[in-house]
Amino acid sequence: MKFILNGKPVTFDGEPDTPLLWVLREDQQLTGTKFGCGIGACGACTVHVDGEAVRSCCYPLLLVEGRHVTTIEGLSPDRSHPVQKAWIKEEVPQCGYCQSGMIMAVSAVMARKPLPPEPQVYKEITNICRCATYHRIRLAIHRLYQEQGE
Ligand code: FES
Ligand code: FES
Repeated sequence: MKFILNGKPVTFDGEPDTPLLWVLREDQQLTGTKFGCGIGACGACTVHVDGEAVRSCCYPLLLVEGRHVTTIEGLSPDRSHPVQKAWIKEEVPQCGYCQSGMIMAVSAVMARKPLPPEPQVYKEITNICRCATYHRIRLAIHRLYQEQGE
C-alpha cells in the first residue's frame, strides 16, 4: 500500500487491515501519535487523512491507499501551527499524553471553511483527557476564534 505521510511517499507491505496507528508508530517511528484505548474511544491516536480527523487505532491501512496522512510531526515543522501556538500560550498540557490527538482533532475542525460556530467545536471534540485539561483546551480554542476575528 502506498500513501503520502507528512508530505513524503510511503510504502507499507504488511496486512491491509493493519491499523494505521501501528504503521505510524512501529513502522515509521512516528511516536507523537499515542495509543490510548485502542477502540476508537479516547482520541489519543487522532491524525488527519486528507485533512479529516480520524482515530488511527481503528483505521485500517487499506483506507489510506493513495491518500494524504498528517501526524502531529507533520502539522508544522517548528510548532508554529496556530493551534500549537494557542496551546502553548494557554499552557494547555498537563502530562501531555492526550495532547497530540487533541491538537490534531482541533486543527482539523479549525481548517474548515467556513469555520464552524465556536460552540460546535466544543461539541465535536470528544477526545478524552485523563488530566482533565478541558478548561484550558476551551481557552485555547476561544483564543483561536478571537484571533480569527482580529
Ligand atoms: S487509542 Fe485510538 S481512540 Fe483511543
Ligand atoms: S494532559 Fe494528561 S491526559 Fe491529557
